[in-house]
Amino acid sequence: MAMIAHKCKDHTVTVVDINQARIDAWNSDTLPVYEPGLDEIVQGARGTNLFFSTDVDTAIREAEMIFLSVNTPTKTYGVGAGRAADLRYIEKCARKIAEVAEDDKIVVEKSTLPVRTAESVKRILESNSNGRQFQILSNPEFLAEGTAMADLEAPDRVLIGGDQTPEGKAAIQKLVDVYATWVPRERVLTTNLWSSELSKLTANAFLAQRISSINAISALCEATGANVDEVAHAIGTDSRIGPKFLKSSVGFGGSCFQKDILNLVYLCEHFGLPEVAAYWNSVIEMNDYQKHRFCRRVISSMFNTVSDKKIAVLGFAFKKDTNDTRESAAIYICKDLLEEQANIAIYDPKVEVAQIQRDLEIDADNKYVTYCESAMEATKDAHAILVLTEWDEFKALDYKKIYEQMQLPAFLFDGRNILDLEALAEIGFEASGIGKG
Ligand code: UGA
Repeated sequence: MAMIAHKCKDHTVTVVDINQARIDAWNSDTLPVYEPGLDEIVQGARGTNLFFSTDVDTAIREAEMIFLSVNTPTKTYGVGAGRAADLRYIEKCARKIAEVAEDDKIVVEKSTLPVRTAESVKRILESNSNGRQFQILSNPEFLAEGTAMADLEAPDRVLIGGDQTPEGKAAIQKLVDVYATWVPRERVLTTNLWSSELSKLTANAFLAQRISSINAISALCEATGANVDEVAHAIGTDSRIGPKFLKSSVGFGGSCFQKDILNLVYLCEHFGLPEVAAYWNSVIEMNDYQKHRFCRRVISSMFNTVSDKKIAVLGFAFKKDTNDTRESAAIYICKDLLEEQANIAIYDPKVEVAQIQRDLEIDADNKYVTYCESAMEATKDAHAILVLTEWDEFKALDYKKIYEQMQLPAFLFDGRNILDLEALAEIGFEASGIGKG
């Protein structure tokens, strides 16, 4: 929304939330999310044509177009628990709009939703329409965290789905006009509602599938002496495969991939397609396998025990350039290590201590976990280093100095394949990466 405000000066964008603290943060100098380049865009437009408020009703009344951007977590209760998307927030939004709106509205689904959610939103709005016309559009977001501003500025495509009726097409055109302010028209794709909803889930499933595929191969590389980075490069030069999203890792994290695939799996089951469901579910199973496999390798390399040993964990975010830890592989790996009674010293340049404690479900005084201000501090007297997030600063550390302050043999496990293992071995490290036999 900040990017729309930034690009379309003649539109007014009001972001509303029922959470006062969140809105206060958006109105302050410290925004509630860390995202490179976001501060400038928000500060540039805030107070001019970008506003943050808790006055939901007024914002609905005044808006011509309303974007639903609430979270759609995996359901934790009832039917579909653990897989289906929890749509209660979407439904509450739809009911709120039905209650408050005084005239026609275009309602845009921005949240990632199961296919045919628009149908429910439409039903709720239409059964309470009282003469008002509601058009529902689907406009899924494809930005990735850490590169959000660049992704928004120059998206590969913008997708807009809507009813193929004259009214639906007119609504689609209104949203096309917004994006066409800065996105080349041929990159703004229009489809029917269901294609748009399904494309979002499918895009994430394909991306995650590539990572699980290369991670599956990484296990075979370790067994055979092949190098997964070399394999990824070799296959990525085939223009039909392409080089992106072939970086083997400790496993993908983030708020979207797992949730969206689980959702896809649930949809397939719902529509009586168990083979399709099992196919996509295997992408998640491979990811779980990769996370635990990494930890098992750490333990077996370290003489089958990490109990009472100090393990430095470098990086806790699910990827670099974000403070987001949702579904981060680091959470699973640290939990596995804690079960083995290791002492872990965590350093991440952006993630807050309280967040780590929530993720690991531990109290502030847990004696097995310490929180460090630097990689130097975390690695002091450590038996091993685990690189779990690919922060650039980890590539530039003085590993000679680090080695000198560690216990011997000094183990280093690069869960992101960002370090020069040969150079580390020359210093004296027992260094290993992912998928390097
Ligand atoms: C992902 C998609 O990339 C976006 O297109 C989509 O809009 C977004 O989900 C969403 O649905 O909101 P995001 O989760 O922010 O974006 O981050 P990614 O860059 O996709 O990374 C996800 C995870 O995969 C990270 O843990 C990352 O480290 C890992 N990854 C990524 C790999 O392990 N290897 C790779 O080659 C690429």
